[in-house]
Amino acid sequence: MAEQNAGILGMGHSYPEGILTNADLEKIVDTSDEWITTRTGIKQRHKAAENEYTSQFGAAAARQAIERAGLNPEDIDIIVCATTTPDQIMPSTGALIQKEIGAVNAAGMDVFAACSGFLYGITMVESMIRTGQIKYALVIGAEVLTKYVDYTDRSTCVIFGDGAGAAVLGPVEAGKGILATKIKSDGRYDEQLYAPGGGTKYGTSHETIDDRMHFFKMKGNELFKIAVRSMADISVEMVGKAGLTIDDIDIVIPHQANQRITDAVAQRLGISEDKVYSNIAEHGNTSSASIPIAMDECIQSGKIKEGTTVLLTAFGGGVTWGGTVIRF
Ligand code: UT7
Repeated sequence: MAEQNAGILGMGHSYPEGILTNADLEKIVDTSDEWITTRTGIKQRHKAAENEYTSQFGAAAARQAIERAGLNPEDIDIIVCATTTPDQIMPSTGALIQKEIGAVNAAGMDVFAACSGFLYGITMVESMIRTGQIKYALVIGAEVLTKYVDYTDRSTCVIFGDGAGAAVLGPVEAGKGILATKIKSDGRYDEQLYAPGGGTKYGTSHETIDDRMHFFKMKGNELFKIAVRSMADISVEMVGKAGLTIDDIDIVIPHQANQRITDAVAQRLGISEDKVYSNIAEHGNTSSASIPIAMDECIQSGKIKEGTTVLLTAFGGGVTWGGTVIRF
């Protein structure tokens, strides 16, 4: 069977109504709107309520993506949910979203690759579609990070927000769709960003709770430099692999980690600021959800349309990173 390009047929996104502003955070930890704005670019983030959870936002984004792709939930062959904040340890959030949307013919699963998870999912299903193993895939990035954030740690709690984005992928005509994609990790940096409690190593005990081991811990300053280098390098590699130059890229959508990281990546790539999309002021860092939320915003506002060439690049805990070039 001839190979077939895989492309994006429809996208959607969803986030909680609740908002946590920098002014709200000033009342919780020793910080200021001025520090958060200048060091991260973030003004507010969406925050799930006590009774809201990851699969709800993932399912809402997925429904929208399937509808916009002109498909039905039964058409989906695989659901890959990228998340670091699953509803529960088992079953997978992918399977829970499958139940919620009625994608009865799919295989649901999760991918744990932190902020790079959406690109991990895209890369996995791309080859399955290209080789004809499956026809339609749903890739979701969904997070309720604020339930894993330590609101006594000012260096992490100001960054993260909640939300979900989803994409339906399927066969597209030659010359379109995913032109190049690659994922990478380096587990030697495992303790740069991690949540040690709750697994088989430390378990869950009064001690792990007292030691706040179930919350995210991050060495932000060290990650910053690795993030910029990794995202820029894989971007250059993927643009080349796609047979393009950086001038052929119409829009760059980086993982929204920190505005200063985005600016530094753009500078390294030699691409003008107006070609680099940012929504971090409104959403903060939503980990695996940040790229699909940003992509869908660009599609809805007309920044991405038929023929637009998009560069995606991500970096996250693990550490993990990835790059993808897509022509719509
Ligand atoms: O999502 C993908 C993975 N994550 C990342 O890629 C995150 C990358 N890192 C970052 O975004 C930044 O490193 C942070 C935003 C986390 C921190 O910014 P920074 O400019 O690297 O600050 P820093 O950690 O070097 O800290 C500088 C100072 C410290 O004070 P002293 O020791 O110089 O007195 C911190 O205690 O800023 C202080 N600080 C704060 N001050 C006010 C740290 N957080 C805050 C805060 N408000 N929220």
